[in-house]
Amino acid sequence: MDEQISILGFAGSLRQHSYNRALLRVALELVPDGAKLEVFELDGIPPFNQDSESSPPETVKEFKTKIKAADALLIATPEYNYSIPGVLKNAIDWASRPYGDNAFEGKPVAIMSASTGMLGGARAQYHLRQSFVFLNMYPVNKPEVLVTFAPEKFDDKGRLLDEKTKKLIRELLDNLVAWARRLKKV
Ligand SMILES: Cc1cc2nc3c(=O)[nH]c(=O)nc-3n(C[C@H](O)[C@H](O)[C@H](O)COP(=O)(O)O)c2cc1C
Repeated sequence: MDEQISILGFAGSLRQHSYNRALLRVALELVPDGAKLEVFELDGIPPFNQDSESSPPETVKEFKTKIKAADALLIATPEYNYSIPGVLKNAIDWASRPYGDNAFEGKPVAIMSASTGMLGGARAQYHLRQSFVFLNMYPVNKPEVLVTFAPEKFDDKGRLLDEKTKKLIRELLDNLVAWARRLKKV
């Protein structure tokens, strides 16, 4: 039997009623057999200061430990001003440092995004993929989970109503798990 694949998820929004955090809750329900998903909250990660990169705060240490232990990562992010939110970039910067101790090294990763606009966070996804090059991560390419006009797709309790989006999330998780298994065998 295949070994269980552990996935660590985090969202680039701290907002209580965040659509992107809601996407991670949906993923928790749809994670395939043979895999488990844990969600890490980025609240509490302070602004990056390179003076502290070799002795980071406890929250950053915990974040890095969990990333390193995970077989795969799942990031749900809003698009802010055509890019990724500072909260997400800040957390990524911490976990990538100090030089030579990049927690993301060689990790398979999948992205989801939800936005109130008509492109569903596409530009943020491509900016994130650009960082993956330097971080030496292996992103899943398809399907693209881009949730457009998010307020129409969730109810007021943050539950996803849109079956097409649920199907895409399930497919993305299946592909991430398969990708992680392939990379583990290399
Ligand atoms: C600072 C800021 C910048 C934003 N820029 C964009 C943007 O460039 N593109 C977009 O589609 N939505 C943009 N939005 C709207 C977000 O899509 C919307 O606030 C969304 O709900 C954020 O995700 P969340 O619900 O997970 O917090 C922006 C929102 C904020 C607060």
